Amino acid sequence: MAPAAGPDYSGLTVYQNGEFVAWDEARVHVFEPLVKYGAGAFEGARGYWNAEAGQLNLFRLDAHMARLELTQRIMGFAEIVSGEAMAEATLELMRRNGFREAVHVRQMAYVSGWGGSGATGPIGTSIVAVPRGSSPLVERGCRAQISSWRRIADAAMPARAKSTANYGNARLASVQAARDGYEASLMLTGHGKVSEGEGMCVFLLRDGIAITPSVTSDILESITRDAVIHLLREDLDIEVVEREVDRSEFHAATEVFFCGTAWEVTPVNSIDGAPIGAGVPGPLTRRLQAAFFDLVHGRTPDRRGWLTPV
Ligand SMILES: Cc1ncc(COP(=O)(O)O)c(C=O)c1O
Repeated sequence: MAPAAGPDYSGLTVYQNGEFVAWDEARVHVFEPLVKYGAGAFEGARGYWNAEAGQLNLFRLDAHMARLELTQRIMGFAEIVSGEAMAEATLELMRRNGFREAVHVRQMAYVSGWGGSGATGPIGTSIVAVPRGSSPLVERGCRAQISSWRRIADAAMPARAKSTANYGNARLASVQAARDGYEASLMLTGHGKVSEGEGMCVFLLRDGIAITPSVTSDILESITRDAVIHLLREDLDIEVVEREVDRSEFHAATEVFFCGTAWEVTPVNSIDGAPIGAGVPGPLTRRLQAAFFDLVHGRTPDRRGWLTPV
């Protein structure tokens, strides 16, 4: 087997099909529908390490597991792997790996066997967790591009489903952004309204009101987006509006930021080279980041029950 590029994860334990196995033993065959057709439902969650308390907390594990079930239903899987079972396996995997640092967790249910594009089973499962901290873009902010690729439409490839195949669309936008010298991409819907980034949702601040594309704008129903809406409304006293967004509104915005499990809360400093506000992370974005990181690390009370201690 040719070695995979990147960090050495060989000491980690992985969950696959009900068993905990060594990293190198977790496999799918190249002929499985997961590989051939992207027939996978997956989640990406984060665990945050609170060094003071010596505690690892998973952020919104239940919400991620509920979405994993929804994706499987949308994809027509013959058997729906329960979120509860995957949550339990996730916690056991955390304990077995003994993480004492921030982690990224990827749970997956996928079509296994040798079927064609319409195969609905048998369903395989896997959970992988690797150490991962925040991107430097969280502090510095990023340069975003509005991609010439459009976001996939619900009537063709529902973005609401977190399916492996959907990331072909994200990939096109990411490749274009990197080629053109940007750090992030934003896609428009087929109707030309703002949708979301390759792996994150977007908010803009206009006249003191936070605006974000609605869940019918061909976005993934992001769990971080939902958390951010709660934080803005309930903790920072900012009005939030979910609606269709025009790209020209970015020119009227004083702040723009991305959010998502991977992107956390990342300021957008410019779009297509045009600065947002002063071209540096804005004050509301900074306040939101502080509230978000205090919450996920368990430094502020978890009033909403969003943290699952390992
Ligand atoms: C396309 C897309 N949009 C938004 C998000 C953010 O969703 P969440 O906050 O649930 O991670 C993700 C995943 O992280 C994504 O892949």
